[in-house]
Amino acid sequence: MQAPLSLPSKILLTGGTSGIGAAMTDRLLAAGHHVITLARHATRLSPRPGLEMIDIDLSDSAEVRRVAAEIAARHADLSVLINNAGLQYPAALTEPDFDSAAMEAEVAVNLLAPALLVHGLLDRLRANAPGSAVVNIGSGLACFPKRRTALYCATKAGLHSFSQSLRYQLGAERVAVIEAILPLVDTPMTRGRGRGKITPDEAAAAIIAAIRTGRPEIWIGKARLLPVMSRLVPAIPRRLLRGS
Ligand SMILES: NC(=O)c1ccc[n+]([C@@H]2O[C@H](COP(=O)([O-])OP(=O)(O)OC[C@H]3O[C@@H](n4cnc5c(N)ncnc54)[C@H](OP(=O)(O)O)[C@@H]3O)[C@@H](O)[C@H]2O)c1
Repeated sequence: MQAPLSLPSKILLTGGTSGIGAAMTDRLLAAGHHVITLARHATRLSPRPGLEMIDIDLSDSAEVRRVAAEIAARHADLSVLINNAGLQYPAALTEPDFDSAAMEAEVAVNLLAPALLVHGLLDRLRANAPGSAVVNIGSGLACFPKRRTALYCATKAGLHSFSQSLRYQLGAERVAVIEAILPLVDTPMTRGRGRGKITPDEAAAAIIAAIRTGRPEIWIGKARLLPVMSRLVPAIPRRLLRGS
């Protein structure tokens, strides 16, 4: 299968306004790609050549369907979808002021929106294969969840499972399905917690390098230890991550 991003590509990237998505946007534009970014505050980004910004709340499924259809109609050459936008509600269900509405948004943005975007853009990705790809931004928490943010961890486990099934479905179509599994990254999502974080730019560079290889699953930084530890000493990562 031809590796994605080998030529200047047209890329739809969700969540390009902050953290890892903003760093990926910078790097992809600098490499000469065309980037369409979707976020609630996308149009607050500074305009740059090759950058298209669309404001959308990805927790609104009807809007996601509408915008996906609009992009599919306007961009016949779209070849890469990067499902990066995500949100994490940092609380435990047992806490008295737990906001149950936040759980709906987590599922909608982290899991349902990526699936709806794939579905809405499938014809474009198929038409531009080989060299086209769906890239899902995953987390080590998919394998070893922590005590708080139960639904966030569950959505990332769901995204991991979705990536596998989608790979089976699209393999024959020669559309690559790539999951980049990240360690802790220093972004607004993790502000004020965690140690040994990598920078958003380090994460972005590793994700883009991984997309270029076309490998289906990429474990980045310390996350590389997780598959090994889960086979040999699963109790250790379970203990380390559950309290984090
Ligand atoms: N940081 C980490 O340690 C880490 C580790 C593993 C995986 N990840 C994953 O990496 C991805 C990026 O995370 P990050 O750390 O860079 O987070 P971040 O800095 O908080 O950025 C999140 C992005 O998602 C967008 N977003 C959030 N809610 C949205 C909504 N309802 N509709 C549209 N866009 C929305 C935000 O844009 P607007 O605010 O403009 O809407 C923003 O661009 C996420 O999928 C996250 O789960 C992060």
